[in-house]
Amino acid sequence: MSGVAELARPEIRALRPYQPAAAADGVRLNANEAPWRQQWDDTPRGLNRYPEPSPQKLAAALARLYEVDASHVAVTRGSDDAIDLLLRVFCRAGVDRIVVCPPTFGMYRVAAQVQGAGVISVPLLAERDFALDSAAVVAAAGDGAKLIFLCSPNNPTGNSIPQRTVAELCTAVSGTALVVVDEAYIEFSEQASATRLLSVYPNLAVLRTLSKAHALAGARVGALLAAAEVVDLVRGVMPPYALPSLSIDAALGLADADYQACIENRIRQTRRERARLSVALAEMPAVVRVWPSDGNYLLVRFVDPAGVLRHARSRGILLRDFSAQAELANCVRISIGDPGQNDALVAALEEYGNG
Ligand SMILES: Cc1ncc(COP(=O)(O)O)c(C=O)c1O
Repeated sequence: MSGVAELARPEIRALRPYQPAAAADGVRLNANEAPWRQQWDDTPRGLNRYPEPSPQKLAAALARLYEVDASHVAVTRGSDDAIDLLLRVFCRAGVDRIVVCPPTFGMYRVAAQVQGAGVISVPLLAERDFALDSAAVVAAAGDGAKLIFLCSPNNPTGNSIPQRTVAELCTAVSGTALVVVDEAYIEFSEQASATRLLSVYPNLAVLRTLSKAHALAGARVGALLAAAEVVDLVRGVMPPYALPSLSIDAALGLADADYQACIENRIRQTRRERARLSVALAEMPAVVRVWPSDGNYLLVRFVDPAGVLRHARSRGILLRDFSAQAELANCVRISIGDPGQNDALVAALEEYGNG
C-alpha cells in the first residue's frame, strides 16, 4: 500500500460498494431482468440482460493496449466520466481543491464545480508557447489541492508536457495530491505515454480514451490508469452497470488482429494532414499564427475570427471559437478532418481571403 488512498474522502474510503447480481452463466433469476429479448435484438448477450458490472474482458483488453496490469485499469464512460469520478472520490465539497492550467479542457473546472470543490488556476505561459509553469503549480497545490489536472497534449493549445516535468510534480506533491495526466490525444503525439511512470509514482493517474484516435466517441469508453487502490476507490463509486453492453462489445473490437494496424494508419494520416493543413493555413493572409500541435487539431489565431467562423459556417464547416478565452484572443480550434474535408476547409478559407 502506497498511502495514496488516504488522500480520498473519508466517507468514500469507508464506503461499502453496492453488490450487483452475479454475472455468472446460469438461469438468471437474480436481477429482475426480462427473460425475453426484443425481436430485433441480435446482440451476443441480449439487451434484456444487464451488462457485466466491471467488464473484465474489456479491462484486460485495455490493460494490454495501454501496457499496464489490469489491476491498474478502471473502465470508464470516456474520460469525462473519469474526471468526474476522481473529483467525487478525492474532493470534499467546500474543503478540497483542484489545480487547473488554462487554457485547457473545460471539464476539470465543471466537474469541480459540480462537486463543490475549489479551483486554483495556474495559467500556462502564453509567452512560452503555453508551457506549464510547474513551480507555480507546486506552490498552488500547497493550498489544499487534492488533484492536479494536466492535459498532454493540451486541448486546445496542442503542446505536450515533458515526462520529466510530470515525474517532478509527482515527487513534489507526493503525500498531498494526485497528479492526473489527461492523455486523450496522446496517440497523435510523438511523446510516450506517462503510463510508464505509474509503477514509480503511486500518486499519478493517467486518463485514456477510445474517443479520439480509436474513433469510438459515440461508444463512451475510456480508462483511468492508476494505483490499484485508486482504481478500487473509483470502481466503488461507479454505478453498478455503468457501461452499456453495446459499448463493451464495440470496444472489444480492440482485440481484433487487424485493428491496431488500421488505427496506426489512421493516426499516420491524421499527422500528415495536420502538417499539410498547418502549412496551408500559415500561408494565408487571414491567419496571424498557427501553433504546432501534438493533437488532432490546430490552434489558429486569425485577423478576424468572427468573419472566418461565419464564412466557414456558410460553407457548411463548423469550427470551434476560443476567442473569448483569456490568452486565446482571436483564436479558433480546427479539428483535422479527412483529406477531402481539409481540402474543403482550405478552399473555403482561400475564398474568404479573396472575398
Ligand atoms: C483533453 C480532453 N479530455 C477528455 C475529453 C473527453 O473525452 P471522452 O470522450 O473520453 O469523455 C476531451 C474531449 O474532447 C478532451 O479534449
